Amino acid sequence: MNKVIIDCDPGIDDSLAIMLALNSPEIDVIGITIVAGNSPVELGFKNAKRILKFLGRLDVPVYAGASAPRKREYVNALDTHGSDGLGESFLPEVEGQKIPEKSAVKFMEESLLQSDVSVIALGPLSNLAELIDKAPSAFLSIKRLVSMGGNFRSHGNCSPVAEYNYWEDPDSAKLVFDTLYENHKKIEMVGLDVTREIVLTPEILAEMKRANPITGDFIEKITSFYFKFHWEWEHIRGCVINDPLAVAQFLNPDILSGFEAFTEVETGGISLGQTVVDSMSFYRKESNALIYTKVDKAVFWEMFLTRVLNIEPEYCKAKFSNLILR
Ligand code: BDR
Ligand code: CA
Repeated sequence: MNKVIIDCDPGIDDSLAIMLALNSPEIDVIGITIVAGNSPVELGFKNAKRILKFLGRLDVPVYAGASAPRKREYVNALDTHGSDGLGESFLPEVEGQKIPEKSAVKFMEESLLQSDVSVIALGPLSNLAELIDKAPSAFLSIKRLVSMGGNFRSHGNCSPVAEYNYWEDPDSAKLVFDTLYENHKKIEMVGLDVTREIVLTPEILAEMKRANPITGDFIEKITSFYFKFHWEWEHIRGCVINDPLAVAQFLNPDILSGFEAFTEVETGGISLGQTVVDSMSFYRKESNALIYTKVDKAVFWEMFLTRVLNIEPEYCKAKFSNLILR
């Protein structure tokens, strides 16, 4: 079975990604590591526990990692994710859950050196950059590294050119991309070009509530704030759910397609956090990234809905086919 560490900053869409991952029999989520991003790290830890409690999976260990970016000042995204980081659902705190003494990075190091482990990174890359500093051989032994972050042709969501996860800690993102380049390895970049295609609409949500009232209500609770934010800022009906797409791609590599290219992350100036993708090979450099640009929405939604709602594919097709193609 594929061992996976989910490195994340929950976060509304991170939570949906965790729900998908833990309902997927092909992978063994050996731990969840938290990084400061959408939520400060302590809040992200508590939110991961809230999601695990809902899923009845408090057995999955959670570790806390970097509380700030490598060089810049920390900027959370609670304006997008709500003051509690979970859409102002104000779910009760899970009692008796303390942050373990072992840090996220130590946990990553030990697991990666012990066996074949992949990492699905759904937040800023600060923990992975710290892993490069402290245990480079562990970092280089990551089996598959899938990261939600960056953008190629799509505009940014924090500036005209930058996506939040890489914009928040561009120095860590740069170190990760550069280290992969130096070691002839690749990151799989699930950026805004593809995640913007995944919009949870009010119609899909309503049907989800009918299909599985408990999970549907829970998802409604944590996403309504996100819906309002998307309407106010982007005039989108519904919300873009970025992070589950990275998990889905890990599970089924046919969901996304794209091309390989040398890619570097900008760390200063007006284009801070931008992923500069050398799609035309101007630099004649070996590629260090797989840049995804196309998504099979139907396959994503069928995977997400059948697994998260625990429904049969036939039922899913009958009830959701018309909704997901819109
Ligand atoms: C990314 O930033 C966060 O707001 C989301 O959780 C996602 O990981 C999208 O830019
Ligand atoms: Ca995230």
